[in-house]
Amino acid sequence: MYAWPFPVGPPAHGTAFAVAYAGTNFTPEEAAMRDLRGKSAVITGAGSGIGRSLSLAFAGEGMNIVVADIELANAEAVAAEVRAKGVQAVAVRCDVSDRESVAALAARASEAFTGVHLLCNNAGIVPFASIQDTTPANWDWAMAVNVNGVFNGVNAFLPALRAAGEAHIVNTASIAGLYGMPGLAAYVASKFAVVGLSEAMRYDLAPLGIGVSVLCPGGVRTNIASSTEHRQERFGGPVAVPVEYRTAAAGATSMEPDDVAALVVRAVKENQLYVPTHPDTRAQADARAGLVAAGYDWLER
Ligand SMILES: NC(=O)c1ccc[n+]([C@@H]2O[C@H](COP(=O)([O-])OP(=O)(O)OC[C@H]3O[C@@H](n4cnc5c(N)ncnc54)[C@H](O)[C@@H]3O)[C@@H](O)[C@H]2O)c1
Repeated sequence: MYAWPFPVGPPAHGTAFAVAYAGTNFTPEEAAMRDLRGKSAVITGAGSGIGRSLSLAFAGEGMNIVVADIELANAEAVAAEVRAKGVQAVAVRCDVSDRESVAALAARASEAFTGVHLLCNNAGIVPFASIQDTTPANWDWAMAVNVNGVFNGVNAFLPALRAAGEAHIVNTASIAGLYGMPGLAAYVASKFAVVGLSEAMRYDLAPLGIGVSVLCPGGVRTNIASSTEHRQERFGGPVAVPVEYRTAAAGATSMEPDDVAALVVRAVKENQLYVPTHPDTRAQADARAGLVAAGYDWLER
């Protein structure tokens, strides 16, 4: 029987789980896609940072890569780096917040390669603002890219992933999806959504043989701090990043994106659900679990 990735099983009222899992007789390890050579990956937000490193790392494993980004020139540059590793790559302009754009990406991926085995829903942006400074436009932008972008990817690619026989989905969340932090209200909300969706998907897709991982990085040396400078017109257009956030983000950027990508390769091969990157963020994750437990203690008093 499928091993639940939690110390306790699904909720007692979850009869739907029992139905979904009837006849499922593999462990997460058995369901893992260990051999990546000759298979194909689609990676969003692949023109920079973690997405670029994921493209190069999976290319290094012998995978052909669809390099998707809202900035086509950057995607093309990464596709050239991927090809230099001796595998095939196509660069596609895709706005993950736009359902039609993601559907077109899925069509392009199916044309380019036989089957899609790995989907990395990695594109993401950060509106730097506390809740009192979060504008409706920034809220909508965060949800559209960070949350809807993940759903749009899953929705558009599930038929191809199911058809591939062996498949895996990696959703990029953040430590901001594991515990709240000040000054990042919409971002934290969006990344909690990605974490919750990933857990739910893990259950739903296990019987289909599709593994799910959720990447929860701490600070990584990328261009994320300048993402508001590329905000789409329909969410209010570009705005300069407040200088205090730029400085704070620069201070937090300790890890190299290539090191993050190496962890993701391992997670896919082992069908690992949670993929944290910074051991020193564990104390905060534990503290948040403690906050929830304190609610149950309070209930019993
Ligand atoms: N850098 C960090 O410290 C850090 C920490 C935790 C989580 N993350 C997450 O990692 C992911 C990758 O970010 P990064 O740090 O590599 O930043 P980055 O800015 O270097 O790369 C993000 C890429 O996504 C692209 N993008 C933005 N909006 C898009 C859209 N609507 N459709 C398609 N592509 C789009 C950008 O053009 C860029 O190439 C994001 O989801 C981010 O939230 C980053």
